[in-house]
Amino acid sequence: MRVLFVCLGNICRSPTAEGVFRRELEKAGLAHRVEVDSCGIAHWHVGKGPDPRTTAAARQRGIDLSELRARQLAAEDFSRFDYLLAMDHDNLVAIRAQCPEGCGAHIGLFLDFAGYVDRPVPDPYFGGEQGFEEVLDLVEAASRGLLEEIARRLEGQRV
Ligand code: 4NP
Repeated sequence: MRVLFVCLGNICRSPTAEGVFRRELEKAGLAHRVEVDSCGIAHWHVGKGPDPRTTAAARQRGIDLSELRARQLAAEDFSRFDYLLAMDHDNLVAIRAQCPEGCGAHIGLFLDFAGYVDRPVPDPYFGGEQGFEEVLDLVEAASRGLLEEIARRLEGQRV
């Protein structure tokens, strides 16, 4: 199973989702069965690490994002990943616009997995510290929901 988190710059929201969801998988003993990655729609920050405010906020919750490097959404991602999860509606529109016909991946908003309808993870880039805490709170909630779904699917295809 492969999960790709997508935001605009791949330096704030989607790296946070990658780190948080990977920790959920580790806690559940499923890290070896699910591959996790993140990327951005824009090319601006390709090759850079996450925003220092993102890294600091995640570290406060015991999550190390320092090794992550930004990359841009690529054509291969549509055949490689089972889930492409957008942080906001603009990301979702951009993913769908690049999606090849017949692509079988689940493409949707990440916060659907927290039980929200149509709710984005707000972009914290131009705001204050509180925005980064909110990203973590929302991403933690959605990660638990996603983990439940994936654990159920893996249970159904035990190898
Ligand atoms: P992200 O946040 O999409 O969560 O990584 C942003 C990062 C950078 C910019 C915008 C959003 N930017 O305009 O450079």
